[in-house]
Amino acid sequence: MKNIGRCRAHTNIALIKYWGKRNNELFLPMNSSLSLTLDAFYTDTSVTLDDTLTEDVFYLNGIKQDKTETTKINRFLNLFRETAKDNTFAKVESYNHVPTAAGLASSASAFAALAGAANSAWKLNLDKQTLSTYARQGSGSSTRSIYGGLVEWNMGEGNLSETSHAIEVDDASWDLGMIIIAINKQQKKLSSRVGMKQTVDTSPFYPVWVTEAKKDLIDIKQAINEKDFIRLGEITESNGMKMHATMLGATPPISYWEPDSVKAINKVKEIRNNGIPCYVTMDAGPNVKVLCRQSQMSDILNKLEESFTNDQLICSKVGEGIRELTDEEWSY
Ligand code: ADP
Ligand code: DP6
Ligand code: CO
Repeated sequence: MKNIGRCRAHTNIALIKYWGKRNNELFLPMNSSLSLTLDAFYTDTSVTLDDTLTEDVFYLNGIKQDKTETTKINRFLNLFRETAKDNTFAKVESYNHVPTAAGLASSASAFAALAGAANSAWKLNLDKQTLSTYARQGSGSSTRSIYGGLVEWNMGEGNLSETSHAIEVDDASWDLGMIIIAINKQQKKLSSRVGMKQTVDTSPFYPVWVTEAKKDLIDIKQAINEKDFIRLGEITESNGMKMHATMLGATPPISYWEPDSVKAINKVKEIRNNGIPCYVTMDAGPNVKVLCRQSQMSDILNKLEESFTNDQLICSKVGEGIRELTDEEWSY
């Protein structure tokens, strides 16, 4: 038997961040979050069920992965095996069109693509909402990559896994875009998973973060309803900074910033002060993301080119949700 499922998922950047789990096994978050799916970065993944295999095998960008990485995939695929009542092992081949583990949300596109491919391989026909609860258990942020546009990850209730899922809030077709300023594409030293747990466990600011994130989510949803770009940007920038402030309060303190992250933030402020609205957000890495109007992207890019090289600047439109890939589209 050789069933194959192939899927593409795009990364997403949170405007209201997820930073902390209330249940580490089920990946249930402390607060709901909201993101923008990006067109520019994505992962393509295939899952081939093969009953001659005696264990799962995992290739990332053509390279066979070690036991640690393969174990993560194996645990994740067990969710699908249990649902399908079929214990066949799989060969997983994945290609990241995004730097891996650099704070550019590779884990988000990775597990959304893997969930989509596994759903097809096992012919489960799970709907997107259910699929988002599966993706969540690979990496929290991947819950949101199931959908395109502006997506909310509802934190859900108690320890009820099925209540913590994504919803498409808005298709984001009102002139939104994002410029990524790549400061460092190397793998980070501290994974998001470890960084957020350390923050939850030790930062005295953590309870304040949760309260603030909840307020910010209400406000940003109102801004989205009103298509108020300025308000959207202001809340995004403020929420991201509050997340990083929370990390600084951890023991030992956590900072993903590099000197050029600060240079990028200051440059964006300068552009804004000169009359083009644009706002920064940062994740668990030194790279800076600039939320802007798509129609003003080239003007902003021109200004950013004064301080950064061309290959550091990546422009992205709004991305779509997961989709199956045909044989022709699988060109690896
Ligand atoms: P990022 O900022 O890129 O999301 P994380 O620390 O959250 O960084 O996650 C990176 C981890 O996600 C990698 O170390 C790897 O375990 C996993 N990952 C990344 N890409 C893939 C992929 N295509 N398939 C499976 N797992 C992946
Ligand atoms: C800062 O989803 O990568 O990007 O759930 O442990 O896999 P795990 O972590 P991950 O964390 C993302 C953190 C963030 C904010 C966000 O995307 O909401
Ligand atoms: Co991640």
